[in-house]
Amino acid sequence: MKYITTPIYYPNAKAHIGTAYTTILCDTLARYERLYGQEVKFLTGTDEHGQKIQESAEKNKVTPQQWVDKMSKDFIDLWKALSISNDDFIRTTEQRHIDTVQKILQKVYDNGDIYLGEYKGKYCVSEETFVTESQLVDGKYMGKEVIEVSEPSYFFRLSKYADKLLKYYEEHDDFIIPKQRKNELIAFINQGLQDLSISRTSFNWGIPINLTEEKNHIVYVWFDALTNYLTGAKYGTDEEYFNHVWNNGDIYHFVGKDILRFHAIIWPAMLMSAGIKLPDHIVAHGWWTVNGEKMSKSLGNVVDPIEEVEKYGVDAFRYFLLRESTLGQDADYSENQMVLRINADLANDLGNLLNRTLGMQKKYFGEVVKESGERTEIENGIYELYNEVLKDVYSKVEEANFSKALESIWKLISRMNKYIDETMPWNLFKENNLDRLRTVMYTLFDMIYKCSYLVSPVLIDSSKKMLNQLGVVDIKTNIYEIGDYVPNTKIGNASPIFPRIEKKEKEFDDELKIQDAINIDDFSKVKISVVEILKVSEVESSDRLLKFIVDTGKEKRQILSGIKHYYKEPKKLVGKKVLAVLNLEPVKLVGNISQGMLLTTEQKKNVRLIEISDEVKVGAKVKW
Ligand code: MSP
Repeated sequence: MKYITTPIYYPNAKAHIGTAYTTILCDTLARYERLYGQEVKFLTGTDEHGQKIQESAEKNKVTPQQWVDKMSKDFIDLWKALSISNDDFIRTTEQRHIDTVQKILQKVYDNGDIYLGEYKGKYCVSEETFVTESQLVDGKYMGKEVIEVSEPSYFFRLSKYADKLLKYYEEHDDFIIPKQRKNELIAFINQGLQDLSISRTSFNWGIPINLTEEKNHIVYVWFDALTNYLTGAKYGTDEEYFNHVWNNGDIYHFVGKDILRFHAIIWPAMLMSAGIKLPDHIVAHGWWTVNGEKMSKSLGNVVDPIEEVEKYGVDAFRYFLLRESTLGQDADYSENQMVLRINADLANDLGNLLNRTLGMQKKYFGEVVKESGERTEIENGIYELYNEVLKDVYSKVEEANFSKALESIWKLISRMNKYIDETMPWNLFKENNLDRLRTVMYTLFDMIYKCSYLVSPVLIDSSKKMLNQLGVVDIKTNIYEIGDYVPNTKIGNASPIFPRIEKKEKEFDDELKIQDAINIDDFSKVKISVVEILKVSEVESSDRLLKFIVDTGKEKRQILSGIKHYYKEPKKLVGKKVLAVLNLEPVKLVGNISQGMLLTTEQKKNVRLIEISDEVKVGAKVKW
């Protein structure tokens, strides 16, 4: 049993491609696991309590409950539009969840890990997190406002779990995915873990705490939210189910890198305290930027996933997000890249393979696919490759590395395109070598059949269309049960599943045009080299110019540069390596010869010479 969860979303903002991405990753894992015969429970939902929600509701002049009812519905609709196959949707305002939170609080309290104290300090409402002085930059946390809070509070003894957490990381190498992220968690714990304030009294939109006589406390929104994963597994209400899903399940929590600490430090400590098994994997993904910039409302560059799906279709959109991102690293979204991917991978590699095959079949044998003749070495190699890919895809998927899984499938697709070029079915037909032609055509059909299944968790509808065109009616759910393509199948109608996006590409070409462009020949006339400054002096009767004697590696030269104003102590430049244009026509400036030009940068009216690191030798040429 694979238990796969997304973070639950704050239903107070519209989702963008970044938020959609976490859920698409989970959905892809869920679909691959099902395809490879695993039982899956896939949970998502909305995180509906907390100060931020209460404030949004007030601003919109509705009650918090009305607010979250509306907003969580928007999320449900979004997931439908993105073909998300979750089999549970949790809302933290549901009674089943409120009960679970109270149960776990009681457990942790009974274990002596909750005590009453006073919280005095900073709180960031926008991120719903307590903030220490050391996390502030210019009085802000991650660029967001913080407020002073001072109120009685329940605390969770997080500090007690520092060593246990470190030990757990050490003993479970696949707990944090990708592995490199473990280091930042270890560093954070080693700075010293403080106990965590887990209740608030200054507002009331949350789950009430009934541990002691102390009244008016509601649960801190993260303690509340993290518990949703237990609610989904029916903790404390259905022992058999909980055993199956949680205790015997392989648990994957997917998160963005910003919320890794909550999941890899606070959450495991809560579970340790309550005596519950820890999740098996926390998968942390990177950030999506747009055309190289951070996505933000103020920049007006927030990408709406629904708009993208309307433009390109849900399959291509999902394919792009998964193929274009390396797990754990930031990735960039641009329409340009999207169109290139659709045209290259989907229209050319995959779409053409199918189209060419159907076209040849019709021409050579009609609508019914013949049985294969005897396989040769080349076919044996292809079947071997398929078996490798079948295994490799699953192992990459288990590491949530979908870009690598897709790369692996595309190896097979490319192999098949090459197979057509190598075997040249048109020649076999011309030569009337029909035996061999039968084998080639059958192998093509069988491999496209198998590829359709391999891509089905990403290209959901398209894979069905592919199978339809191959004439397959009985679509299986388990890849180990698909068998081989059945000979004598009557193929369906061929029509392009991934049409090329021509118009767009032309628009991009136009966009790429640069005014006053020079060509590479023009550019390569300029000779730029590394020179060392041997001497600097002022030029009499000029308040701008400095006179440099430089070593070019071959000779000494004098170069004048108008940067006096920017260097108070020009002598300090002696010994520095900088860049100079050496084939510029010499000029005379206020009676001094200048045999070249030093290169500088300018930013906010500050000009600096471009310095080159010491390991580069004098005389080295600038190459491109
Ligand atoms: N409610 C909490 C999660 C509680 S889980 C017990 C939360 N919600 S969120 O709506 O703010 O974020 C949901 C997910 O979207 C997170 O995984 C977050 O990392 C991800 N992303 C938000 N902006 C993103 C990008 N620009 N790029 C990629 N993912 C981003 O946090």
